[in-house]
Amino acid sequence: MENLRVLILAAGKSTRMKSKYAKVLHRAGGRMLIEHVLRSARFISAEIWVVVGHTSDKVKAAIAEVKFIEQKDQLGTGHAVMAAREQFAGYTGDLLVLSGDVPLISSGTLETFVKFHREGGYNASVMTADAENPDGYGRIVRHNESEVDSIVEQRDATPEVLQIAEINSGIYIFNAPALFDALSKTRSNNAQREYYLTDVIGILVAERHRVGAFKIPSAEEISGINTRQDLAAVDRLMRRRKCESLMADGVTILDPQSTFIDEDVQIGADSVIYPSVQIYGNTIIGEDVTIRSFTRISNTRIGARSTVLENCVLDNSHLGEEVTLGPFSRLRPDAVLGDRVKVGNFVEIKKSTLGTGTKSQHLAYLGDATVGKDVNIGAGVITCNYDGVAKHPTVIEDGAFVGTDSQLIAPVRIGKGAYIAAGSSITDDVPAESLGIARGRQAIKEGWAKNRKKK
Ligand code: UD1
Ligand code: CA
Repeated sequence: MENLRVLILAAGKSTRMKSKYAKVLHRAGGRMLIEHVLRSARFISAEIWVVVGHTSDKVKAAIAEVKFIEQKDQLGTGHAVMAAREQFAGYTGDLLVLSGDVPLISSGTLETFVKFHREGGYNASVMTADAENPDGYGRIVRHNESEVDSIVEQRDATPEVLQIAEINSGIYIFNAPALFDALSKTRSNNAQREYYLTDVIGILVAERHRVGAFKIPSAEEISGINTRQDLAAVDRLMRRRKCESLMADGVTILDPQSTFIDEDVQIGADSVIYPSVQIYGNTIIGEDVTIRSFTRISNTRIGARSTVLENCVLDNSHLGEEVTLGPFSRLRPDAVLGDRVKVGNFVEIKKSTLGTGTKSQHLAYLGDATVGKDVNIGAGVITCNYDGVAKHPTVIEDGAFVGTDSQLIAPVRIGKGAYIAAGSSITDDVPAESLGIARGRQAIKEGWAKNRKKK
């Protein structure tokens, strides 16, 4: 929007979180609080400033495409905005002030708020809502339907003011010069010995500026996060919303309460998610996929009609169509499974490709391996890819059969259609269509056991 800049307050310590990190770095719905606020802000304006202070290096490293303002000591929300004074000297437009700890605010609501402010011809506007439990929030003292008198912080409120259900969201629009002028008149003679941004509202009203209060229908959207309990509540709400939108698009989720799905995850219709599944990051799941309980999937693609059984961990991997995985399989980064691959219990795969129709059903480790189509990997097969210094590749060509409990000591190549006898330690390449056998020959000592018992 024209003539509109955004200032996000994110310098505060997380005293009530009892955390060493800035509050806005904590996560809900899979994202840092500041990221949620930024996402909505970007719809409104490309000119975004963020006030940082407590663990500011970490906040700066976490976000991009914004300008930073340092607030050295955290002396309150008014003090935080004051830190931006020089940056906005000479700017006469509107300033939208957001709190880094109010993450559910939507871009749509911000847009209507800006319209309210501009159409009403206000010098300052505050977003409010009636809250079921206004505890902890600043209260809105009004003198009529659309105009406000002042904002009183909970800790400075009289018993009468505490009865007010209408809360301050911590989201405002100000005419910039009026804001900075009023800020210079704030004092810290209050319960918290802080410079309150909220005091600016009362100051502007006293100076006969027009101040609007924009009340939204539900306080949920302006929930602020001050404690770990608040964080958990907002996280649950975001996850419930995600599950609901997936269900609306045709995904069955048996127990949304115990299901954790990040906002950016995509799942195709008629897929079924069992209880206690976690799906994170940029995961993309096709149609008719089944994910059974206690599985955790991060940044992975799963093709249509695949099944992931219980207790699997999938990380940065890629599964084709009609793959079956688990129970108890682990895919580490860059595991690439072709269509109709079967990977079973206690199989770990890292940085390896398995061609169409290949099976590794039990107790195997495949690392740095390129495995062709229709290969059979027996139980207990291990690629010995690491010699203590470097990693080495294993190549297993199409149609090969690797017998149970064999070690493939890399670098090594098993040719097309070759057989490896069970229990082999393969150190040299095995040519196509051959048998590789590398184990001690069996000896029989007849009657040995019987003679021993006689002694
Ligand atoms: C603030 C409001 C309160 C409102 C509530 C909405 C004030 C005085 N009170 O209270 O009326 O109902 O938000 O959620 O403004 N921050 C800084 N520097 C500081 C202090 C805070 O950048 O020195 C940042 C924090 O990181 C946070 C935001 O400002 O993102 C709000 O601060 P917080 O201490 O959480 O204010 P509340 O007590 O919640
Ligand atoms: Ca807060």
